[in-house]
Amino acid sequence: MMLTFSSRSVRTALVVAGTALLVPSAKAAAQGADSLTTLSKIYTAVQAAKGKDAFDTTCLSCHKPVELAGYKFWSGLVGRPLGEFFGYIRSNMPQDNPGSITDEDYAGITAYILQLNTMPAGERPLPGDSVSLAKIRVVAPDTTRKGFGK
Ligand code: HEC
Repeated sequence: MMLTFSSRSVRTALVVAGTALLVPSAKAAAQGADSLTTLSKIYTAVQAAKGKDAFDTTCLSCHKPVELAGYKFWSGLVGRPLGEFFGYIRSNMPQDNPGSITDEDYAGITAYILQLNTMPAGERPLPGDSVSLAKIRVVAPDTTRKGFGK
């Protein structure tokens, strides 16, 4: 009787542990191997350079680039879709004239800010639409890369 009881408890414990283990891995599988993050080389260096020009023209009067770089700024974005950031600047910035530049420029500025935060550049430009950007998750920087600010 004792034996039956304890083996059932063990089985119950295993089922519970199994469920706990399955939930996160099932979630990872659902996200798929092609799930993109800000470390997936999602913008080009040329785009970031154009984005810097747009930033200098449209944003620099109120923001120093250093304000939008480093742990203090980036930690507020980690775990969220990049589309949220894009949507925020597109709807709210420049504060004195929101939405006054093209989506391409907002994407370029986003690329520039990714670069300021040491996210790697690649071959494909960042798209300027919130639907595509909603699929990209902001992650912590690769701390082996140099230059990430405080
Ligand atoms: C006229 C001044 C002004 C201009 C120009 C301006 N901003 Fe802002 N920005 C602000 C102010 C003020 C805030 C704080 C707003 C708030 O807290 O609601 C802010 C907030 C932000 C934030 C959030 C900051 C944070 O720490 O989370 C971001 C990102 C941002 N701006 C990006 C931009 C970008 C990109 C541009 C250019 C396209 C831009 N801003 C142009 C005044 C400006």
